[in-house]
Amino acid sequence: MKLYCATGNPGKLREFRLAGEVLNIDVEPLPGIKSIEAPEETGDTFEANAILKAEYYSRFAEGPLFADDSGLAVDALGGAPGVLSARYADSGLSGHDADEANNQLVLKNLAPHADRTARFVCVIALADKGKVIQTFRGEVEGQLLHEAKGPGGFGYDPLFYYPPFGCTFGEATSEQKFGVSHRGKALRQMLAYLTR
Ligand code: IMP
Repeated sequence: MKLYCATGNPGKLREFRLAGEVLNIDVEPLPGIKSIEAPEETGDTFEANAILKAEYYSRFAEGPLFADDSGLAVDALGGAPGVLSARYADSGLSGHDADEANNQLVLKNLAPHADRTARFVCVIALADKGKVIQTFRGEVEGQLLHEAKGPGGFGYDPLFYYPPFGCTFGEATSEQKFGVSHRGKALRQMLAYLTR
């Protein structure tokens, strides 16, 4: 089965393709996605943004397409950075440098708080020809360390300590992370739905 994925984020795409391989599903980035103007992510929930992206990009796809919206919700920060996770520090930077700025701001804002609990959330929306078919939500609970640890993953992974692993998502392998992650859970729900 071939499924188009609407993401320009190489970290996410790597994880989706890896999961697809295990289940014999060919996850392909939407052809030409880089030349399609990205929609503004105006929703204030992960669901709203995932639907908005899936409906928008599926108009350009020949077949079903999924889009995800994901982020980090920190309890002591009232759920922030939430839907603003990718642009929390508003640094104007991209890639690793943007991640670094976002991580520093989370650490700064969290410094006065004893409660370091947080979760990653991922909502995947599946759509065809501009209409959403279904959404799938995955979450994973962890704790934020006081400093980054581990070279792997992307975004907030090096800060996100996952107790069952005894290490951060930045120290875990992609396979280990995907087995328990918010994105892995949401994707497996979608694949179960598609093969039901
Ligand atoms: P989106 O592209 O709008 O879904 O934004 C996702 C942002 O949330 C990313 O840029 C990261 O900052 C953060 N994020 C989402 N999933 C993960 C993850 O698995 N690890 C680390 N950071 C994540």
